Amino acid sequence: MEKPRISVIGVGYVGLCTAVGFASKGYTVIASDNDPEKADKIKEGIPPFHEPDLPAMLRETIQNGHLHCLTNQTQKAVLETDITYVAVGTPSRPDGSIDLQCIETVSHDIGKALSKKSQYNVVVVKSTVVPGTTQNTVKPILEIESKKKCGTDFGLCMNPEFLRQGSAFHDTFNADRVVIGGNDKKSVDTLENLYKDFYGVNVPPIIRTTLSTAELIKYASNSLLATKISFINTIASMCEKIPGADVKAVAAAMGLDKRIGPLFLDAGLGYGGSCFPKDVKALIACSKAFGYNPELLESVENVNQIQPLKAVQFCKEQLGNLKDKNIAILGLAFKPDTDDMREARVIPIINQLTKEGAQVTAYDPVAMPTAKKIFNNQIKYATSAINCLNDADCCIIATEWSEFKKLKPKDFKENMKQPIIIDGRRIFDPEEFKQNTHFAAIGLGE
Ligand code: UGA
Repeated sequence: MEKPRISVIGVGYVGLCTAVGFASKGYTVIASDNDPEKADKIKEGIPPFHEPDLPAMLRETIQNGHLHCLTNQTQKAVLETDITYVAVGTPSRPDGSIDLQCIETVSHDIGKALSKKSQYNVVVVKSTVVPGTTQNTVKPILEIESKKKCGTDFGLCMNPEFLRQGSAFHDTFNADRVVIGGNDKKSVDTLENLYKDFYGVNVPPIIRTTLSTAELIKYASNSLLATKISFINTIASMCEKIPGADVKAVAAAMGLDKRIGPLFLDAGLGYGGSCFPKDVKALIACSKAFGYNPELLESVENVNQIQPLKAVQFCKEQLGNLKDKNIAILGLAFKPDTDDMREARVIPIINQLTKEGAQVTAYDPVAMPTAKKIFNNQIKYATSAINCLNDADCCIIATEWSEFKKLKPKDFKENMKQPIIIDGRRIFDPEEFKQNTHFAAIGLGE
């Protein structure tokens, strides 16, 4: 059977990993993005962001011609393919609800292309959109622009994405499940067959459902993971008040209960990134719009707002007034293995430290260029972790990069003015560090 040709509109990390994933398995993929800078880089085979394992396969698929990238040519991409993925951004509005402007623009363009097409095309919404969006926003735009009927003349699915940044390319080939919400049987069958071919013998469970259930599965999944994090951070705050208590031991023991599981129970400075903060807020706003106030999720969000500022509080407990104190920050990315700083927990920390007059020097293995765009000259940038510690009064571990885990108490003692360490991501052994340094950590009782 001939492989369907695939278009991907929007090449952020979800769109690009999807595009490269299909292209690497021999599908013809045409991507399009309205950001010329991003599209130009991809045309040269260079990912516009840091994502392990992606560069080599992107280069290969561009060179062997399986992947083509266009600049702002949605209609051309749709006209030349059979299945069209929509993977554009859905940013937050000030009230937490999602901004559908990009989804709407792209839907208009796809609809116009569909009006010119004679063969059947399935449109697949991969962007994270709140329940009702595919049915009530995307579908009518496609039908009006194309003057065709969804379900007979063209297909429509909602297929949420569960990739994690930092391991997104690996996740593309190793999904726990594939969720396909469909407007009609033919659309869902088309997508199910595509995934059966893509995964081969390793096909994960495929869940066929309605458009709005698929949309909600994505938000419910991210919100539960965020809830686990805020839950364990709540326990961490209790531990800090209980002599001898340690949240790491609590989480490890809890995680052995199969009903709880060990993952997403790492206490720290809270969750960041382009997804959890935005998705929890969007689900709250959407739920309220439907007439239900989700108090649990509001608490999850509140805990996450407070959590990073605990690092500043710890600093003050150790140093008193922060004016002119040198604070070293190790880690800027919202998590390891990415250069992404969207909603990084370090942002409120640095803003608060500088507001209180501290001098901040920061280091991150890959996120420094991103940080420079956010902080400009507000902080100093070090060339290495050790360089960052030089002459510091206090060091905050803000991201758990593996290279920071190799640091020893002597590295802090030899380089800092005084070895005061705040382990915001629980990467160090308290027994080892407490002997040689002034050591405080999230979730560690005195
Ligand atoms: C998350 C989900 O894990 C993906 O399944 C989903 O596809 C993606 O959002 C999305 O919606 O696109 P991601 O944002 O890449 O992926 O990051 P995670 O690995 O989930 O981490 C999110 C944040 O939670 C990070 O700031 C991380 O440091 C924090 N975290 C994670 C903790 O504080 N503790 C933990 O135990 C785990």
